Amino acid sequence: MKKNYFAVILLSLSMMYGTTIAQSRSELLLEENWRFTREDQEGFTSVNYNDSKWQQVTVPHDWAIYGPFSANNDKQHVAIAQDGQKQASEHAGRTGGLPFVGVGWYRNKFMVPKFNKGKKATIIFDGAMSNATVYLNGKKVGFWPYGYNTFHFDITEFLEAGKENTLAVRLENFPESSRWYPGAGLYRNVHVVVTEAAHIPVWGTQLSTPVINKEFAKVNIKTKLVGADQHAVENFLLSTEIMDPKGKVVSVVKTPLSKYDQDVFSQELVVLNPVLWDTENPALYTAVSKLYEGNELRDEYKTTFGIRSIEIIPNKGFFLNGKRTQFKGVCLHHDLGPLGAAVNDAAIRRQIRIMKDMGVNAIRTSHNMPAPEFVKACDEMGMMLMAETFDEWKEPKQKNGYNKYFDQWAEKDLVNLIHHYRNNPSVVMWCIGNEVPEQGMVGAAKIAKFLQDICFREDPSRFVTQGMDQPGSVINNNFAATMQVAGFNYRPFAYPEAYKKLPQQLILGTETASTISSRGIYKFPVVRRSMPIYEDLQVSSYDVEHCGWSDLPEDNFIQHDDLPYAIGEFVWTGFDYLGEPTPYYTNWPSHSSLFGIVDLAGIPKDRYYLYRSHWNTAANTLHILPSWNFKDRVGQTTPVFVYTNYPTAELFINGKSQGRKTKDTTFTVYNTGDKKSLNDFDRQKRYRLMWMDTKYEPGTVKVIAYDAKGNMAEEKEIRTAGKPHHLELKADRMQLAANGKDLSFVLVNVVDKDGNLCSEDTREISFKAKGAGKFHAVANGNSASLESFQAPKMKAFSGQLTAIVKSDEKQGVIYFEASAKGLKSTVIKIEVK
Ligand code: GAL
Repeated sequence: MKKNYFAVILLSLSMMYGTTIAQSRSELLLEENWRFTREDQEGFTSVNYNDSKWQQVTVPHDWAIYGPFSANNDKQHVAIAQDGQKQASEHAGRTGGLPFVGVGWYRNKFMVPKFNKGKKATIIFDGAMSNATVYLNGKKVGFWPYGYNTFHFDITEFLEAGKENTLAVRLENFPESSRWYPGAGLYRNVHVVVTEAAHIPVWGTQLSTPVINKEFAKVNIKTKLVGADQHAVENFLLSTEIMDPKGKVVSVVKTPLSKYDQDVFSQELVVLNPVLWDTENPALYTAVSKLYEGNELRDEYKTTFGIRSIEIIPNKGFFLNGKRTQFKGVCLHHDLGPLGAAVNDAAIRRQIRIMKDMGVNAIRTSHNMPAPEFVKACDEMGMMLMAETFDEWKEPKQKNGYNKYFDQWAEKDLVNLIHHYRNNPSVVMWCIGNEVPEQGMVGAAKIAKFLQDICFREDPSRFVTQGMDQPGSVINNNFAATMQVAGFNYRPFAYPEAYKKLPQQLILGTETASTISSRGIYKFPVVRRSMPIYEDLQVSSYDVEHCGWSDLPEDNFIQHDDLPYAIGEFVWTGFDYLGEPTPYYTNWPSHSSLFGIVDLAGIPKDRYYLYRSHWNTAANTLHILPSWNFKDRVGQTTPVFVYTNYPTAELFINGKSQGRKTKDTTFTVYNTGDKKSLNDFDRQKRYRLMWMDTKYEPGTVKVIAYDAKGNMAEEKEIRTAGKPHHLELKADRMQLAANGKDLSFVLVNVVDKDGNLCSEDTREISFKAKGAGKFHAVANGNSASLESFQAPKMKAFSGQLTAIVKSDEKQGVIYFEASAKGLKSTVIKIEVK
């Protein structure tokens, strides 16, 4: 009904204005009515195949996240060379212990009402994991191997007008193809786009802002036209309008097309008094390209962009809109914890929100192409992006990794990434590789140059880097010198030598820290440890533990604070992810990472507040650790750390002063870094306040913070919890959209009668949802828990977990209840509008 109504409006408008307003382009999102199987038969491509017994699913869909976990899923008997392993051993949880290996088929039957003879149709897969072979109406349309990239095929010849069409997609994931959990299936969206024969193709505009000043910005837009060959190009007119962030048209240009321009038409527009895009005010403009043939609108194509400048100046740094900006960055894998790889806008935006509150201004999409929803959210929320491509080139890290495809596919994959995102203001840098084994090989700089040159050719407006972890080789063999931006993974101690020898005069920490911690778990004595192994498969939340190749947050802060040529860092990692349970390589059931500043459930670890205290300069941070709930530590030395942006604080245990501490700024990158100083936590003394000799006694820990002038600024208190009493629920969003896919993340805390967190509690908590939504998933951040993410129950980890609630398509209220044995249950109401 709605659609018919729309057609009537179009008709009356066209009568009023005397021009024909064609319905120029339409897009169908293929979310519903998918059928899925893990079987594999040739006949699945056939239109007549009866798939009614297959599982009914909606896309985005990650087939493997439903488990069950098993040590046998992609069990890898390997030596991880990058981690310094010489001998092969069994790595059971390396890729998350989930069943992603093997074949999966998806089928969908759909009509395309807007398609008829003379029109063009394209199918776009935002990402399909992996080795996708696409069939339409029984015929093979195409193949795309790389699971992380967006690809598209022209399906005009395959599509039937006015009839039902049958799409079949075969995917296959090989064992030993990944170093982390890749996900499985049609985990990103699938679109069918119908246009007129003459149209602007997928990613058909390229926009830049070559001149920006206070009074005006020049916008250059190059627009591609295809399918006009049977008509004379001279009959076409391209009208481009620019809308400001409020939707007002602020500039228009109309260009009659000329065949001398071939198929790309360049236009220049001026925007007066431009509002610049930056991380605090992500102002977005839209270019609306209208293609007319005579009076008829043939196509209308929108390009969202920002007006912003980026610059890199040797010895000075990276500049956003003329302002020196250090990268306070994190690396993120693509998985969304308990949701697996299946893209969800609400989950992505929550990640970015949490990172922004920590003070993060940039994300590296390690080690592959992001989902379009992710880039859009970064554009809209003000987050810079380093968009990455590959974890491997020709030389294998994994037997069945990207090395199998590099020669044939690397250029196509890189071009797709760049065409897809070269108008997005959030993207400031392309990353062409991560710790590729080629680094030490003679002549490998040629591959780096080949890839970097593709970036320059396709997008001269952004910087190019790669993450290198073999400074000993790359500083001396041309490899690092080839890169526009030399990016180093770990080894900050090698920055000075790199700076001395390399031509760029800037160093970027493409990957840093890899500090490890488990939320709410504290290990004693509190000493700096590399690759610690504990029986409970956890590591300490005192933030003093790291990997053999890595270090602590302050080992990087100090570089970027003291070395003028260090332009910032991307910490490994913002969130925990599935797979890579380092240091528990061989200790099943450990199967997800411990690197995250935030755990797999999206709950901040203590480390979050350390970064926040240093990076978020707009808010105050005052955080005390450890939690003060130890049964067996009375009288024992139990250090207290305070993460704060204030320089000084005084600590009290049960009212008794433990003395004042002030951040010690006499420690610099130049007088620290030797073994003794590292073990004495000298660098930490500049960024954290640490009382190393305090003794545990149940009660109250209080901290009073003082500002730089010595004025009392803020105080905070934590208390030993009494008996667990009830469940406290805090939803990240109390209002959801009635679209069947919006999510609220509900933090569940086990608390005593006064609301103090019972941080040692691990009881099972159950969930029920009634009304306008459903229970969707749950996670507790315990990297060794094999509980299902989809069962409506899970054990608390350190007294907390996150339950996820999904909206229905109807409006109303969701009544979400959490209950547990021995505790008062709690219900919260979430509105669905
Ligand atoms: C790096 C690598 C990352 C991750 C990390 C763990 O070497 O680039 O993908 O494995 O180590 O510390």
